[in-house]
Amino acid sequence: MLGVQNLKKNFGGIQAVDNCTFSVEPRRITALIGPNGAGKTTLFNVVAGVVPSDGGTVRLGGHDLTRLPIHLRARLGISRTFQTVRNFSNLSLEENLRLAAEPRDQHFWQSIFIPRSAPKNQLLEILKRVGLEQPLNYPSKDLSYGQSKLLSLARALLMPHKILMLDEPVAGVAPTLREQFKELLPDLQARGETIFFIEHDMDFVRAVADTVIVMDQGRVLTEGTPNEVLRDQRVLDAYLGEQL
Ligand SMILES: Nc1ncnc2c1ncn2[C@@H]1O[C@H](COP(=O)(O)OP(=O)(O)OP(=O)(O)O)[C@@H](O)[C@H]1O
Ligand SMILES: [Mg+2]
Repeated sequence: MLGVQNLKKNFGGIQAVDNCTFSVEPRRITALIGPNGAGKTTLFNVVAGVVPSDGGTVRLGGHDLTRLPIHLRARLGISRTFQTVRNFSNLSLEENLRLAAEPRDQHFWQSIFIPRSAPKNQLLEILKRVGLEQPLNYPSKDLSYGQSKLLSLARALLMPHKILMLDEPVAGVAPTLREQFKELLPDLQARGETIFFIEHDMDFVRAVADTVIVMDQGRVLTEGTPNEVLRDQRVLDAYLGEQL
């Protein structure tokens, strides 16, 4: 599905992504883990085309995305959520689902399918699928933090896509909603979704991921099943004794 080869990104001397090679298999849930500053978000940004790479290739399906701008990568199937929630808090759930993410992303959003004409029942269905039972006119500012992350996920699902990329879906989310996310990802997988997510919560990673890719200092340290990876001494060392 997603194939990344020798990908590189340098920020003024910091090799944030350092020759990364891996693939994400279709209809699998793949986690990307690693200590703070390992380069996970930068890797997502380079894959999605938010920042240009300094080398390497990114392929999705049969397409070479490497030289394509963000909106064409989105059109070819990359749909994502961000580490920090980017909903419009002064708008309703419906408006958030129908509207652009951010003014500076306007070109990106205008150039892809914006479901302004999507029937209300489609919007309700997508909210229900992520477990938001509020009415469409519900003000998004009244959502809890975890619920607003569900709204971001609903928006990502609404965009036509081949892969869902989620940057820390449960960070800062209260325990009950975290459990909801834990059921939701496999549920989406069963419906045919390919999910690639970044997360620090290892309990969550163990519960939902088929494959775990570990990054440290810009590099892919190892990959395997959660069981293999989370007892690998190199991974424990990378986390410097943090509780995994
Ligand atoms: N726009 C930028 N300009 C300069 N340096 C950056 C930029 N974005 C990231 N970096 C640096 O690149 C490295 C990787 O950062 P990144 O945000 O990708 O890490 P991360 O693995 O997502 O960390 P976290 O788990 O804390 O979210 C860090 O050293 C960071 O300071
Ligand atoms: Mg990050």
